[in-house]
Amino acid sequence: MTDFAATKAAFDLPEGVIYLDGNSLGPLPSAAPARIEQMLRDEWGQKLITGWNAAGWMQQPLKLGDRIGRLIGAEKGHVMTGDTLSIKVYQALASALELRPDRRVILSDNGNFPSDLYMAEGLIRTLGPEYELRVVDPETVGDHITDDIAVLMLTEVDYRTGRLHDMVDLTRKAHAVGALTVWDLAHSAGALPVDVAGAGADFAVGCTYKYLNGGPGAPAFIYVAPRHAGNARPALSGWLGHQAPFAFDTDYRPGPGIERMRVGTPPVIQMAALETALDIWDSVDMNDLRARSMELCDRFIAGVEATCPDLTLASPRDAAARGSQVSFRFAEGYAAMQALIARGVIGDFRAPDVMRFGFTPLYIDGDDVDAAVAILSDIMATRSWDRPEFKRRAAVT
Ligand SMILES: Cc1ncc(COP(=O)(O)O)c(C=O)c1O
Repeated sequence: MTDFAATKAAFDLPEGVIYLDGNSLGPLPSAAPARIEQMLRDEWGQKLITGWNAAGWMQQPLKLGDRIGRLIGAEKGHVMTGDTLSIKVYQALASALELRPDRRVILSDNGNFPSDLYMAEGLIRTLGPEYELRVVDPETVGDHITDDIAVLMLTEVDYRTGRLHDMVDLTRKAHAVGALTVWDLAHSAGALPVDVAGAGADFAVGCTYKYLNGGPGAPAFIYVAPRHAGNARPALSGWLGHQAPFAFDTDYRPGPGIERMRVGTPPVIQMAALETALDIWDSVDMNDLRARSMELCDRFIAGVEATCPDLTLASPRDAAARGSQVSFRFAEGYAAMQALIARGVIGDFRAPDVMRFGFTPLYIDGDDVDAAVAILSDIMATRSWDRPEFKRRAAVT
């Protein structure tokens, strides 16, 4: 059994704060500052450029990829870290499209994160007007998987509502019509068990700054199924994905397997922070995590529905149909969230009216949930959110 008291003790959380936003940015692993300091002083400071070899900086993106791979059910040697998630979406989508040269349609849904849709639009502008991004309602995706689809590109867990797509079923449907899949695991990796290999996913991408707790600006990751790894051609053909980067050839030749999904210089300082977060993940069983996450989310929903009649559940009620977050709709949700944050309960807000709460068993327990419910119900009952300072919108919501 995973020891959640031990994982909670492995994070530095500010005194008096109940942090329900680990679905957006995970907290600081206690071991991160010392590891980063050591990286800066002993590796960068002392080894200078020799650190690429002597401190293993160049191997780090693949090593970290394998540790993330365990959490998403990937085969060893098939996950690469680096860049940002938007870049990895572009990379996966471009490669998947090239593997289906006779088709022109990308199918996605309007619950997908906007950046994924924007990246697809940008890619299409480069490829030509014969390409199409077809965006449908999430509930109808299965009905729109037709034999003109080249790539099904979906985010498994909806960033606003937490609604969970059935990765196994939709991947099977896509394959049945000859389409490939690109799964965005931004709200899945570290939130619930994922089995990309078992589901037969072709490509998967995700970030490490949310549930994985790698820190602001932590690198993204990409998974390429073994059957594609040797023939997926990278559109972002950077020098470190080259077969022999230090031969400095003028022509691009893709590196072996997942190595070709590197683009440029890896973010070494960020990787040191991510390493300490993954040390905590090494002690976590994903099935234990899922059971605890469902329990916490159910407890929060029951508490809020019993005490806050003005809030409407925006997430699926069935825990099995949800990721690890719960959302409620409220017309003055922005102000209510600011009032909550002022009382030490940190969640976030997504336009137009969604109050989002992430439940992360690594450092949130039942007592935290009860305390958060009590504060939220007090704010709603007393309308203490109804103050001008809570209605002034900041740049990041
Ligand atoms: C589902 C999803 N995809 C893509 C992104 C964009 O990620 P990045 O800003 O790291 O490129 C996000 C960011 O939150 C996201 O939630």
